[in-house]
Amino acid sequence: LTEKSLKCLNVLVTAGPTREFFDPVRFISNPSSGKMGYALARVASLKGAEVCLVSGPTHIEAPPGVSLIPVVSALEMHSAVVERAPRCDVVIMAAAVGDYRPDVQSESKIKKGDKEITIRVVPNPDILAELGRQKREGQVLVGFAAETDDIVENARLKLLKKNLDMIVANDVRDPRSGFAVDTNRVKLIFGSGDVVDLPPMSKDEVALKIFDYVEELVKRREGF
Ligand code: C5P
Repeated sequence: LTEKSLKCLNVLVTAGPTREFFDPVRFISNPSSGKMGYALARVASLKGAEVCLVSGPTHIEAPPGVSLIPVVSALEMHSAVVERAPRCDVVIMAAAVGDYRPDVQSESKIKKGDKEITIRVVPNPDILAELGRQKREGQVLVGFAAETDDIVENARLKLLKKNLDMIVANDVRDPRSGFAVDTNRVKLIFGSGDVVDLPPMSKDEVALKIFDYVEELVKRREGF
């Protein structure tokens, strides 16, 4: 990592889960630890990029030199990302964004009782799809896909639908993959149709691999 191959590039990474509160003390969330996104931010920074890490709540410290923008909900992540993405060369959405939020957030704690309560949820905006629609010439957009079946095919559909350059697909049924573990087994799928099947490795190693390919994509865009 001595070569500062991402020097002068602005990289935005998202990480962690989001929390969708329905009263001041209760929320809907997911088990994302943020490890993959933080590893990506660290690698990008070591490679010389200006890195902004938009992160949901995690227990990890931001890597040195990375500017951390803490957010809680998907709507907060949406505004933080949409505001910054236009000036970024590379955007990697590794966050596990909540797909739904409660339609109302009670200002006072909902009293415990014996009766059933219903929480209605409404869809959150798909941040990555929005970035895909606004993608400018030369920008590299990378997404993640947690899949249980037909991994490559489903991930490829997401890549096309969201106008991405690369998607990192992981089989969340594999115990060495996915949420809150230190390792990940991923496949990298590209707009060109190429698929790279990586063996199980640490999330730090996955981050290094991802950036090897991101660098290639950036170079290709610059017409090297
Ligand atoms: O469509 P799906 O949620 O499986 O796609 C996952 C990818 O989309 C991830 O990169 C995730 O960060 C991003 N995403 C998003 N906004 C959402 C949901 C997912 O940016 N509301």
